Amino acid sequence: MNWDKARRLMRLGRCEDQSRRPTRSFGPGGHLDPSSDVLADVRARSICVVSGKGGTGKSLVTASLASLAARRRRTLVVDGDLGVGNAHILQNVSPEHSFAEVVDGVCQVHEIVTPCRENLDLLGAGSGYAKLAGLSTYELHMIACGIEKLELTYDTLLLDSAAGISEQTVSFAAAADLVLIVTTPDVTAMTDAYAFLKVLIQRRPTAQPLLVVNRAADLEEASGAASRLLEVSQKFLGREPRWIGTLPEDRAAFRSVQRRSPVVEYEPESDLALALIDLAATVDEELYRTAPRGLGRMLLRHVTSAGAARLQVKRATS
Ligand SMILES: Nc1ncnc2c1ncn2[C@@H]1O[C@H](COP(=O)(O)OP(=O)(O)OP(=O)(O)O)[C@@H](O)[C@H]1O
Ligand SMILES: [Mg+2]
Repeated sequence: MNWDKARRLMRLGRCEDQSRRPTRSFGPGGHLDPSSDVLADVRARSICVVSGKGGTGKSLVTASLASLAARRRRTLVVDGDLGVGNAHILQNVSPEHSFAEVVDGVCQVHEIVTPCRENLDLLGAGSGYAKLAGLSTYELHMIACGIEKLELTYDTLLLDSAAGISEQTVSFAAAADLVLIVTTPDVTAMTDAYAFLKVLIQRRPTAQPLLVVNRAADLEEASGAASRLLEVSQKFLGREPRWIGTLPEDRAAFRSVQRRSPVVEYEPESDLALALIDLAATVDEELYRTAPRGLGRMLLRHVTSAGAARLQVKRATS
């Protein structure tokens, strides 16, 4: 029996035991109460923002996309840069609790939700806690189960990833409905973006990655970089990401980060903010073309299969 089937049966069993149909309980403000026992019939659409190389602008892009999404929908930012996350800085909040407390068993995931502004909440990654950078399968399960319940109460989930191709980063990306690869035009960032793409497609062959070129001097530079990546991907992977946007190099980025604010809020008329608004519209179109699969449920599946694969290798080599 696969994991999904088992969970469905467990839920059905629980409902029959209590001789009731599953109901949704609503908390203050009419939102679903995430601590209640609910059927996973409504799920947020999720997008994971990734790169290979660090510092390409993932957090900056996530902060603005989240802020724009929250103008229309209940939105949750999940800081997946576990242990060194800074998504909270760009929303100007100081989370009281983070995934560190979840992993230590002190809090459940819904207890670490930090409100940022109307319609926008955050799950903080914790800072300076090395354990978070290499979670066990069990710990990732705990996080995935918490997200599975919580995501019933949101429309959009944005995951700000850690740089690189660590097991947990790739698991988050493979679990999301969409993956947005953020690269800068330089060769090292492009090479690492390709590396991420390769690992992602190996893990989830049906993934439909999207590409945004950030910090471009002009459209020509962005176009040159994107076409090289698309060409190499097609040649060696038989697939290519969809290039959906270009963001200019703009000092407004620095100024808004200093003010701990998404650039679309702090300098909404800047070239960068206007390009991010265009990007958000395209991302929305892509998201609403995609059936939500449930980030938590998919994460459980990817964590379980990766854990099982590791166990097989360990057995085979011992
Ligand atoms: N379009 C841009 N123009 C100018 N500066 C930018 C632009 N995008 C990002 N930056 C700057 O690049 C730096 C890194 O951005 P950010 O923290 O978003 O990257 P990241 O990919 O999240 O990094 P990490 O991999 O460390 O998480 C920030 O100081 C930001 O101001
Ligand atoms: Mg970041």
